[in-house]
Amino acid sequence: MQINPACILSIFLLSFISISGASSAHNENDFLECLTVQFHRSNSDSDSIYTPKNVSYLSILQSSIRNLRPASNSRQKPVVIITPEHESEIQAAIYCSKKHGIQLKVRSGGHDYEGLSYISQTPFFIVDMRNLRSISIDTEKNTAWVQTGATLGELYYTISQKSKTLAFTAGVCPTVGVGGHFSGGGYGMMSRKHGIAADHIIDAKLIDANGKILDRESMGEDLFWAIRGGGGTSFGIVVAFKVQLIVIPETVTVFNVSRTLEQNATQLVHRWQYFADKIDDNLLLRLFLRSFNSSNGKRTIGAFFTSLYLGRVDDLLPIMQQKFPELGLVKEDCTEMPWIESTLFFAGFQGESLDVLLNRTQVSTAYSKAKSDSVMQPIPEHGLESIWNFLEEEEENGAELQFSPYGGRINDFSESEIPFPHRSGNIFMIHYGVGWADNAEYQRHINWIRRLYSFMARYVSKSPRAAYFNYRDLDIGMNNIKGNTSYRQASVWGFKYFNNNFRRLVKVKTEVDPTNFFRNEQSVPPTSTQ
Ligand SMILES: Cc1cc2nc3c(=O)[nH]c(=O)nc-3n(C[C@H](O)[C@H](O)[C@H](O)COP(=O)(O)OP(=O)(O)OC[C@H]3O[C@@H](n4cnc5c(N)ncnc54)[C@H](O)[C@@H]3O)c2cc1C
Ligand SMILES: *[C@@H]1O[C@H](CO)[C@@H](O)[C@H](O)[C@H]1NC(C)=O
Ligand SMILES: *[C@@H]1O[C@H](CO)[C@@H](O)[C@H](O)[C@H]1NC(C)=O
Ligand SMILES: *[C@@H]1O[C@H](CO)[C@@H](O)[C@H](O)[C@H]1NC(C)=O
Ligand SMILES: *[C@@H]1O[C@H](CO)[C@@H](O)[C@H](O)[C@H]1NC(C)=O
Ligand SMILES: *[C@@H]1O[C@H](CO)[C@@H](O)[C@H](O)[C@H]1NC(C)=O
Ligand SMILES: *[C@@H]1O[C@H](CO)[C@@H](O)[C@H](O)[C@H]1NC(C)=O
Repeated sequence: MQINPACILSIFLLSFISISGASSAHNENDFLECLTVQFHRSNSDSDSIYTPKNVSYLSILQSSIRNLRPASNSRQKPVVIITPEHESEIQAAIYCSKKHGIQLKVRSGGHDYEGLSYISQTPFFIVDMRNLRSISIDTEKNTAWVQTGATLGELYYTISQKSKTLAFTAGVCPTVGVGGHFSGGGYGMMSRKHGIAADHIIDAKLIDANGKILDRESMGEDLFWAIRGGGGTSFGIVVAFKVQLIVIPETVTVFNVSRTLEQNATQLVHRWQYFADKIDDNLLLRLFLRSFNSSNGKRTIGAFFTSLYLGRVDDLLPIMQQKFPELGLVKEDCTEMPWIESTLFFAGFQGESLDVLLNRTQVSTAYSKAKSDSVMQPIPEHGLESIWNFLEEEEENGAELQFSPYGGRINDFSESEIPFPHRSGNIFMIHYGVGWADNAEYQRHINWIRRLYSFMARYVSKSPRAAYFNYRDLDIGMNNIKGNTSYRQASVWGFKYFNNNFRRLVKVKTEVDPTNFFRNEQSVPPTSTQ
């Protein structure tokens, strides 16, 4: 079982635990009535309100859940799910949420690793953005307005229908939602040449805690700064982002070559660390590492060099020959294709029609847990060998490490340009993942990934030990479930995700949402609540 980025997962039954929470039914009824009245007032019908009695409630709830783990540990189901079609419905939801103390959670693509967009330990409801997903492209200015309920697949597809040389730099899995992904960063196969998604946001439409609809000009540069990498959730509901598209060549080149331990994988991975962030910006060589049975039936470690080159194969080969001859890449390993086809390739849909990018259905899912790190000094060979030992322990259980190189355009921005701080000085990011089907073994898998993470401390960034916000990990610290959280307590996780930018995020939060209306297990706290 593979977790990421091949976006195809095996199917398991989702067992959302249904224990009615300790919340007062009284409040919930008042809240529902408030919603109905407010929706009516704004002339929208209540068709977009799903209570647990509605036959579609459960399928809507489950439709974009990618990870069974948070849901299976969750004690509460949402009081209601709303699927707004108009901004007025979001304003109504904010109004009623405040009035009746039912917590608001917003969900775009539902890919949050800890399920923060659809679970909560206090009475809550979900604003699901699925119906707000229009995409409009301006091919003269090379910009796009993208509503946050859209998926990356929908965005990539829509761009490709307008132009062969326009694209956008964002993540690999087509069902990832724009709302969470852009507001939390957005790393992808073109990030060395073009940076991350949040680097390209040029305007936004946001509804704040007072229900006000703001754009870049009316929200001001501080708030606009915060929602480009600091996570949308702490500041409001982002309805749409305007992004600058990027210009790409008509033909790009992909390859995915594997090397086992017998084929010197250890030396190759070791060597990779010395150039992965410095090589030609057009080339991004990502590494996937896992234990597997090789064709001769022998257990080994596989290092998969999964790569995109923004150019033709004849220009790629000399670069590889000069910088990484040890890999022995040959023309036959490479395939030239339009960029849009490469998005299928990296998502594991090679050969399928482009429409697959529009498929939002994803009942399929598994239990998984992920963590992240940032590496600033190459890991020595004996360190890599220890990682192999960890991988061998989890052999059948979909354990995988991803090494994603930084450098290139990512380093063109200062650490404080936007809240995403992982710029110069970082060679690559590690994504640790483990997935499993049988939850009886839950604790063993969790222990495994925590042990590995703890072992890795000696090889990765320190003070703070950096983590990538979009690879959400509640192990690194979280807010109090009830009541306020101090700056000091939130700093534990805040500095890992944002480094010194955390201070400015708190300042912005204090200005725009002093009562901490928009909150979750890892939201930025206002200082006014201390
Ligand atoms: C299979 C898979 C592949 C992935 N691949 C990549 C990758 O290649 N690169 C990468 O960088 N990341 C990747 N990720 C991580 C992904 O970027 C994050 O999980 C991201 O937050 C998902 O956004 P979402 O809208 O789908 O999630 P959601 O669960 O809907 O939202 C995530 C968070 O953002 C908040 N939020 C969502 N919408 C809004 C909104 N409109 N306004 C305000 N707040 C909002 C939610 O409340 C939640 O806190 C991947 C994740 C998965 C599961
Ligand atoms: C459930 O929701 C659908 C879609 O909004 C609506 O058509 C239907 O009437 C609802 N059913 C119930 C029982 O509320
Ligand atoms: C592995 O490395 C050794 C020593 O550098 C070399 O002799 C050998 O040819 C390499 N093996 C493969 C399969 O590349
Ligand atoms: C790998 O090989 C081992 C031992 O031969 C076997 O038990 C296991 O089922 C194999 N795993 C896979 C995924 O084929
Ligand atoms: C790369 O190859 C490995 C092994 O065949 C496979 O598991 C993985 O899905 C491939 N990745 C891509 C992006 O094709
Ligand atoms: C969309 O994907 C789901 C899950 O992978 C699949 O079952 C379904 O057939 C797909 N739908 C279409 C229209 O291709
Ligand atoms: C949290 O902070 C707010 C704003 O300062 C305050 O009104 C509220 O009483 C605090 N709540 C708790 C539980 O301390």
